Amino acid sequence: MKQTILSLLLALSPLLSPAEDGHALWLRYKPCGKANIIAPQGGATLQTAVDELKRYWQGSELKLILNPRLKDDDGFLYNGDSICSHSELGLLYGAYEALRLQAQEAYPRLGGYTAPKFSRRILNHWDNLDGTIECGYAGKSIFFSANLKGQEWAGRIREYGRANASVGINGSVLNNVNTSPKVLTTQYIDTVCTIANILRPYGIKVYLSVNFGSPKALGYTKTADPLDETVKKWWKKKADEIYQRIPDFGGFLVKANAEGQPGPFDYGRTHAEGANMLADVLALHGGIVMWRSSVYGAKHKGEDRVMQAVSEFKDLDGLFKSNVILQSKNGPLDFQPREPYAPIFDNMKKTQQAVEFQITQEYTGQGKHLVFLAPMWKEFFSFVAPDSLKAIAGVSNIGDDINWCGHPFSQANWYAFGRLAWNPSFSSDFIAQEWIGQTFGNEVNSYILADMMTTSREACVDYMMPLGLHHLFASQHHYGPEADGVKAEYPLEWCPIPYHKAAADGIGFDRSSKGTNAVSQYREPYRSLYDNLATCPDEYLLWFHHVPWDYKLHNGDMLWDELCALYYRGIEQVVSYQKLWNELRPQIDQERWEHVNRLLALQLENAKECRDYVLRYFQQFSKMPLKYNFTGVSYMPVQPAQLNHKQP
Ligand code: GCU
Repeated sequence: MKQTILSLLLALSPLLSPAEDGHALWLRYKPCGKANIIAPQGGATLQTAVDELKRYWQGSELKLILNPRLKDDDGFLYNGDSICSHSELGLLYGAYEALRLQAQEAYPRLGGYTAPKFSRRILNHWDNLDGTIECGYAGKSIFFSANLKGQEWAGRIREYGRANASVGINGSVLNNVNTSPKVLTTQYIDTVCTIANILRPYGIKVYLSVNFGSPKALGYTKTADPLDETVKKWWKKKADEIYQRIPDFGGFLVKANAEGQPGPFDYGRTHAEGANMLADVLALHGGIVMWRSSVYGAKHKGEDRVMQAVSEFKDLDGLFKSNVILQSKNGPLDFQPREPYAPIFDNMKKTQQAVEFQITQEYTGQGKHLVFLAPMWKEFFSFVAPDSLKAIAGVSNIGDDINWCGHPFSQANWYAFGRLAWNPSFSSDFIAQEWIGQTFGNEVNSYILADMMTTSREACVDYMMPLGLHHLFASQHHYGPEADGVKAEYPLEWCPIPYHKAAADGIGFDRSSKGTNAVSQYREPYRSLYDNLATCPDEYLLWFHHVPWDYKLHNGDMLWDELCALYYRGIEQVVSYQKLWNELRPQIDQERWEHVNRLLALQLENAKECRDYVLRYFQQFSKMPLKYNFTGVSYMPVQPAQLNHKQP
């Protein structure tokens, strides 16, 4: 009998405990509904703050106070009894801070007033108008959706707004930088207007990526020359139309003369002339232009790709209008697991700049690997002072998958982007622990989990491309390695061989003063540090230097041995994550535990594939034995024919 009841309960248990699909993100407040929230009269943003607190605040009373004497910078003062801010948005951020601390059973932070470091904290969505997402690994677009309709669509966007506001994100570029000009047609402006209305109470401005050739491509003008009067007129009219519908529209993001996109060069004009023309029409309405510097293959085609941004932009320093922000990727190549910082940040002293991070894990395992990116972004800030930047942008990893981001831990990268945009001095560990407490509950051993998260980026570097190697990825998908790949249909700069330059004499790209001299674009002390083989940090060695296979590293080990060891170290780390995840099993709901467990197994398989593929390939040149001393992972030699990297 006992047995029967037990098996009945077991059979029913999935029905008894609600399914955990990850949709709730880190916003798992328990409804309470007994708090007295005292607040002044206000608009929709204040009302949102009041509603959230009324529903979820577990204390008896909380006062919201608008104080015009405080700074107008989205900041707030929260002391456990009241939240004070200059603005309604500051109060909303304060409300989420109060709920965040409540969820973690933590006290209000000492130190009083807190305000975001960057005034613009913007997600860049690479969503296409047909609903697909470039480098999206979690389903289709939530904005240009074929899957979500009517109320469900609006509801998802509202949830998106709420999640962003809870971490202080205040802008969204809704569409891909490789955009169709059609986004500027009335049909899409209607959609954008509806989205803007839904997001407004959450303090989020919408922006659009625009195609520089739009007026011509849409058939209104004969040219897209930024100095042509008909072109200027068209853009002005378009901006007026947008602002009439969306008075707080943020502005345009532009990818021009990069990877085949049209731009001012097509008409013999400079990036500054192109950006300023758009800046003029937006300035009338308080809008801005975010002009991307990540260009290559245009004016300086043939030059080392990592140098082209500085070559194209440095003479334009000081020529951009005051509402133009130059937006650059954190590294000079393309969101690799590790890159040195992009030297454009050293070269544009009189230009407002923004950094673009990639939250979506294009080169770090996409929606399949547990790789927490906060340490990578913190590393960037150790070279480029946040104070020198005007804005921060993150290429979003959000799609219409029920759990938003694919990998349950990829949500942490969205969260971390918001938190670092607020305060870049938060440590990776602090952010991880905050996220864990809210996402998995306070019963979970957050120390173990945070340790796993904060070491995961380095593990990824190890098993993908250690010691400054870069762009070893297959050109079609950037998911796995293809060290030997050269495809006739792709430009050479998309293929790995020109980057690793492995040959009998050694490996690595000579960017020292004896090579392409990319080091000359860096400020001191980095210029000399990277130029000099003896002082170049090992983690950037093969980025800046071509060295023999038996080169002695700073730790005394031979390059080839260290390369092998690091691939193994990366794998060992993933094995250790599996063990830790197993230990945490009793503390995590079954659904998310199993999901992550499956993904960790895939991550391990992929890491081994990377090692096998890359080391086997390089071994043809090094002609040295694979040497390793690790325990726990047994190396299974793979025949080249078996190497078949799985696509996601
Ligand atoms: C990468 C990415 C492209 C993207 C480009 C960019 O190359 O693979 O999909 O368009 O970066 O940032 O413009």
